[in-house]
Amino acid sequence: MGDPVSRAFGKFTYGVYVVGAAHGGRVNALTCAWVMRVSHRPPLAAVAVGKTRFSHDLIARAEAFSVNVLAEGQVELARRFGLVSGRDIDKFADVPYRTAVTGAPILKGVAAWLDCRLVGSFPAGDHTIFVGEVVEAWAGDKAPLRYDPRDYWG
Ligand SMILES: Cc1cc2nc3c(=O)[nH]c(=O)nc-3n(C[C@H](O)[C@H](O)[C@H](O)COP(=O)(O)O)c2cc1C
Repeated sequence: MGDPVSRAFGKFTYGVYVVGAAHGGRVNALTCAWVMRVSHRPPLAAVAVGKTRFSHDLIARAEAFSVNVLAEGQVELARRFGLVSGRDIDKFADVPYRTAVTGAPILKGVAAWLDCRLVGSFPAGDHTIFVGEVVEAWAGDKAPLRYDPRDYWG
């Protein structure tokens, strides 16, 4: 079912990431599948964030963002950060996190994380591609969560 464009993109494989930022006393994050490495040297990560997301302007103002690589078994966290907006609730009210060097939030129990300083923003249709230079990173032993649309959209 669906149009050919959606069906073709439906064959793409993705991880599941929680991308966070903090600015002006507010911390927030959103679940993102559209995340990738875009340079070896310097190490750069890109994330496509919808212009209507609460996180969009927060990342732009913070000039920094974190990328939390969710681990297998963390679908509930992906749903929490991906199915409601920080405009309506404080997503971090009962989610333990710590603050990275840039001020961006790092979640507990993730497979890996990056802390990035924003080095570029590129308009891309209804999204903005934020490119960040990795200033700190960590990876543990857990396997990453793979994106499966049935976990989110029924
Ligand atoms: C699995 C999953 C992947 C998502 N990937 C993206 C993405 O790559 N970019 C994006 O802008 N929104 C993505 N979303 C939607 C946002 O996470 C969602 O709109 C979120 O509520 C925005 O939160 P905010 O308004 O607090 O920023 C995804 C949602 C889910 C559940």
